[in-house]
Amino acid sequence: MIAVCGATGELGGRVAARLNARGVPIRMIVRDAARAPALDGAEVAVAAGYHAGDEMTAALRGAETVFLVSGRESPTRLDEHKSAVDAAARAGVERIVYTSFANASPDTAFILGRQHHATEEHIRASGVAYTFLRDNLYLDFVPFFASPEGVIAGPAGDGAAAFVARDDVADVAVAALTESGHDAQAYTLTGGKALTLAEAAAVMSEAIGRKVVYKDETIEEAYASRAHFGAPDWEVEGWVTSYVSIARGELDTVTDAVERLAAHPPTTLPELLERYPESWAHLK
Ligand SMILES: NC(=O)c1ccc[n+]([C@@H]2O[C@H](COP(=O)([O-])OP(=O)(O)OC[C@H]3O[C@@H](n4cnc5c(N)ncnc54)[C@H](OP(=O)(O)O)[C@@H]3O)[C@@H](O)[C@H]2O)c1
Repeated sequence: MIAVCGATGELGGRVAARLNARGVPIRMIVRDAARAPALDGAEVAVAAGYHAGDEMTAALRGAETVFLVSGRESPTRLDEHKSAVDAAARAGVERIVYTSFANASPDTAFILGRQHHATEEHIRASGVAYTFLRDNLYLDFVPFFASPEGVIAGPAGDGAAAFVARDDVADVAVAALTESGHDAQAYTLTGGKALTLAEAAAVMSEAIGRKVVYKDETIEEAYASRAHFGAPDWEVEGWVTSYVSIARGELDTVTDAVERLAAHPPTTLPELLERYPESWAHLK
């Protein structure tokens, strides 16, 4: 039985639905049973969150493998991840498939990438077998980077990112969760090519028939242009440093992991825009 965390979300929801459609026994670990996807035959267990160690342990007991979706960004996210990993170990889970981040390392420019690295280290130290899915930035977010005025603004310079679609990550996750041979592997999941933000804007313009442009910002301009959101400093730092990571060339590596593990080519930006027209409704 596979425990699927984050099943009320985009990625975990896709993974739960795909596993269920294949007849794989799953238990969705959710914070609110009323929001769990309706999937025939799937179990649901409730835990207040990754921080709730005893509830997580009880929810995970009996699962062979857990799909651990990284939590919502917060100042305590790393501790929450560690708590969930410790709960999995206590529950006797045999393998953790964790959604990490491309180029996760202690010194990546992207602040959240450092948390992913620390989570990976904690999983390695737990003694539980693991597979890391190191996702690049989601391709799904490219349309959201653009303001309603059609401007993608950020300090990414001429750097490129090999954005990966959540659908592709979900397909790889299903393979990693259901097949053998993925222990102690870290797969960097990317699209088929790396795009600069100017290229992404041009592809979007062509695909949706409306001009989208990229405006390079300095780091100071990036913090200033996001100030009106009123978000906490740690969150704004996460947003801004993701662009800095692109600028430094930390996210431009293209791998064949999606093709190899999901057995289909990665989704392209035009395909994603066609599949999810609501993602660019704000640009109409
Ligand atoms: N690669 C990228 O570009 C990128 C971008 C953004 C985020 N991410 C990471 O990827 C993850 C999955 O993406 P997504 O699109 O599926 O996000 P999503 O739609 O927001 O779903 C997140 C899921 O994780 C659950 N969750 C979040 N924090 C939790 C916690 N502390 N304890 C227990 N459950 C928790 C949520 O539960 P509730 O429904 O109860 O809130 C939800 O089911 C995100 O959570 C984030 O860590 C990656």
